[in-house]
Amino acid sequence: MAEGTQHREQVDPVLVIIPTYNERENLTPLLQRLHATLPQVHVLVVDDGSPDGTGELADKLAAADDRVHVLHRTEKAGLGAAYIAGFRWGLARDYRTLVEMDADGSHAPEDLPRILDALEGADLVIGSRYVPGGAVVNWPLSRQFISRGANLYSRLALGMGVNDNTAGFRAYRREVLEKLALDEVASTGYCFQIDLTWRTVQQGFEVVEVPITFTDREVGESKMSGAIMGEAALKVAQWGLQRRLGQLRRLLGR
Ligand code: GDD
Ligand code: MN
Repeated sequence: MAEGTQHREQVDPVLVIIPTYNERENLTPLLQRLHATLPQVHVLVVDDGSPDGTGELADKLAAADDRVHVLHRTEKAGLGAAYIAGFRWGLARDYRTLVEMDADGSHAPEDLPRILDALEGADLVIGSRYVPGGAVVNWPLSRQFISRGANLYSRLALGMGVNDNTAGFRAYRREVLEKLALDEVASTGYCFQIDLTWRTVQQGFEVVEVPITFTDREVGESKMSGAIMGEAALKVAQWGLQRRLGQLRRLLGR
């Protein structure tokens, strides 16, 4: 595993952005696993004022480790908003690669070297559950249904070739995020992932999917909600319609 990690001139230095809301039990073991796998990477915890003290814990971890940084936000404003703030923080510094990863252990840090290696030949690498070799462990059937449905729906509406476009474990080259108009991204919930995949594809960037195993959290709770699903359904329909209108306009020659 260490082999690939030593030759990544193109993608280092790496910032792993971890959004947190009530992940106190999960944070320390996750960072330990991450740094055991990839000692060089930096971490930015983006905490939305977690009532359980995740933010304070992150501060403690950061004080003891130069590789760990914390961004505090005052209220729970959604996964998308947290990532945008994290991207801006990373882009203001000299990181070449910005990684998205959940705090709850669903994304195995041990899979990250393969994702980073694939970024040598791509602009965005998605850790994918829905390509051969990918898997989901311990998700209830209902949640698998929602995830599969969201992927099918967005693929059909947007005509994208990506199999797992809601995935939350991914690595971006900084050039991609510099090019995407981040201030135009209004998605706050999990459709943020679809939104950015779509923008990346539209800009002509190279997207590669690498199989991963997503394992449901053992500690704490998912923040998935009806509102998050509603936002996704509405937004994807809107983008799909815009795409069709664009095609029609081109067809009519104006
Ligand atoms: N700062 C912040 N603010 N963090 C948040 C917020 C928020 O409003 N909402 C969620 N998070 C953090 C959680 O603490 C966790 O670290 C991560 O974002 C993912 O949240 P979960 O609630 O664990 O998501 P999930 O397991 O239900 O969904 C996962 O799968 C989806 C795809 O099917 C995530 O990977 C999603 O990103 C992904 O779209
Ligand atoms: Mn989770």
